[in-house]
Order: sequence, then C-alpha cells, then structure tokens
Amino acid sequence: QELQMNLEQIEKGGYEHFMLKEIHEQPSAISDTYRGRMLVDEGIIRMAGMDDNMERIANAKRFIIVACGTSWHAGLVAEYIFEDIARIPVEVEYASEFRYRNPVISENDVVIAISQSGETADTMAAIKLAKEKGAFTFGVCNVVGSSISRETNAGAYTHAGPEIGVASTKAFTTQITVLTLMALKLGKFKGTISHSDFQYHLREMELIPNKIKDSLKSDTIIREIANIYKDAPNCLYLGRGYNFPVALEGALKLKEISYIHAEGYPAAEMKHGPIALIDEQMPVVVIATKKGHYEKVVSNIQEIKSRKGKIIAIVTHGDEEVRDLADHVIEVPETIESLTPLLTTIPLQLLSYHIAVMLGKNVDQPRNLAKSVTVE
Ligand code: G6P
Repeated sequence: QELQMNLEQIEKGGYEHFMLKEIHEQPSAISDTYRGRMLVDEGIIRMAGMDDNMERIANAKRFIIVACGTSWHAGLVAEYIFEDIARIPVEVEYASEFRYRNPVISENDVVIAISQSGETADTMAAIKLAKEKGAFTFGVCNVVGSSISRETNAGAYTHAGPEIGVASTKAFTTQITVLTLMALKLGKFKGTISHSDFQYHLREMELIPNKIKDSLKSDTIIREIANIYKDAPNCLYLGRGYNFPVALEGALKLKEISYIHAEGYPAAEMKHGPIALIDEQMPVVVIATKKGHYEKVVSNIQEIKSRKGKIIAIVTHGDEEVRDLADHVIEVPETIESLTPLLTTIPLQLLSYHIAVMLGKNVDQPRNLAKSVTVE
C-alpha cells in the first residue's frame, strides 16, 4: 500500500493531481508534437502519414471529422483551421451519431478520427464504416499502436505522452497542434496560403509553448476566481469563431470534474436562449481575445452586464475595454487568431481544476466517467 502511494507520488512529479501535472506539461507536450515536423528554416512541414498520401488527402472533396468528447471539440477547432488555411470543406460529427445515420460518404472523402486513447468504440466503428464506403481514413491518436491508429489508412500521432487524468487537457491542445500542422501543410501544397503567411504561422507556433507558460502564471488569480464562484449551481461559457469550441471545452471540463452544470455557447447565440438564464447569480465566462470578432464579443459582454451577470473574461494582454466591463479578467498573450485556442484553453482548464479541488472532488477520477470508453 505504502509503496503504491509512493509510486503514485513519483508519477505525479510533485503535483497534487495528474490533471494539474498534465496541464503544466502542455508547453513541452506541444513542442514534442511539432518537433521534427516543423522545419522552420526550410519552410516545410514533414508528416510521414500525409507525405505518403498527399494527392489523396489534398484532393479530397470534403473532410469528415469523427470523434467523441474533448476530441470532438478539437475537431470543431480543426473545422475552422482547415477551412481557413486549406479551403477544404469540413464536417465534424459525433462518432456515435455518424455511425448510425446511414451517412453519405464517397471515395472522395477523407474521414479523420481524433482520439486520445485510440480505443473509443464509437470512433472506431465510424472509421470502419467510412472504410467500407471507400473513404480514405486518417487517425489523429495519442496512444501509439492503439486500435484506431492501426485501423486507419494513415495518421499522425499527437506525442502528448501518457494522459492519466480522466479530464483531457494536454491531449486536446496537442490534437489542435497536429491538426494545425496538417492544415498548414495542405494549404501550402494547394497554394491556399502564401509562403509568407505559412512562415509566419510556423514562427508563431514555435512561440506557443512559452506563451502557454505565460498563461499558466495566471494561476493565483484563477484560484481567487474559483473561490468566489465554486458554489455556483450553473455557469455559462461563451466564445466566437475559433474560440466557440474552446467555450464548449471549458464547460465540459467544469462539468466533468466539479459536477457544476455548465453550458458552452457561441456568444451570438446567447440571445436565442441562454440570455434568459442570466441574473446576478450567473457566472459567465467569456473568451474575448483581441483577434476574431472582438467588438462583437464586447457587445455580448455589455448585454450580460446589463442583466447583472458576473463576467469572467479571458482577454489579450493589455486589454482595457473588456477590463472596464468585466468582474474579472484573465490575460493570455497575443498570437494569430487560429492559434488562440491553444492559449485560451489554459485558464479554463485551471479554473475547473481549482473549483473541483476546492469542492473536494476526485479530480483525476471523476464519478461515472472513464478515461476511454471502449464499449457503447
Ligand atoms: C471519454 C473521456 C474524455 C474523452 C472521450 C473521447 O469520455 O473521459 O476525456 O475526450 O472519452 O476519448 P478519446 O480517447 O477517443 O479521445
């Protein structure tokens, strides 16, 4: 028993929980993801799974992304990235719905499965179905040699290292990293991104690990915010564009480990429902970084404020406009819009972590949840 405890302490590397360790591992996990692939000076991205099948992938009429849970959220971010950078139409599907829907799939489709474990039963079934219908299948998995990585025609590993905490953290940001590299590589191949823009993206990506380290420094303020709102029965998360899926992921993290009801919404959809919930009891987490519909998000914040909602805003360093309106602000460094999810996710992970710890919940093994869902 004692030996077991000590082993676990060692594995946690001095952190109180695996989740916290994995949150802090993100700078190195992300550089492990792009190391050897992104050759900045040469201006190329090398990914064997794509290089060997470039014509097939780049000529796809459509990408269909299948995934579950947090991986599905990474798929939603990828939808923006692929469409923006590589101009390929993308659909993002819950694997569990896709597999039972008699979906229209053709040989011109590329079906991408995103899965940390590579073992999720629904995602695996979706890939088998896509293969049967003649689509080319591509796996974005973390666990090397996992079932989905073996079943797909090609793939790219995230190289995040083992993720033990049930609530996914570094798997999510490394999935977004791999998917971004894929989009850039395709954009370059297809000529949908200029050389200088491509180079600019690579250089910005190289800065992300340090910018995440910077974001992690908000821990103290996030802990204070957690202490104020830990007893809230509900919480709303809002974001637009690239940060809409981040809002969904932030809400999922809070639900998973603190058991507080939370909903993520595209900020502009607030007026079609969730606004009815807003009163002085309701904390609303708003992602309001400078790039990407900033002014529109500011007006959403004003709408929340006039209904007395409590605003916790994620903003770009130095922001003043939102600071004047919000009850709390958490700063993240500036980067290009498509890379902001890698930064805005960090404070949301920490917020859910601290709330769960303060509520005395089992952070690494939340009730009713499993790390990988290998049955339906
Ligand atoms: C479970 C886990 C989630 C994960 C989801 C998909 O629900 O608790 O953290 O996002 O499965 O798992 P996968 O391994 O396919 O990414």
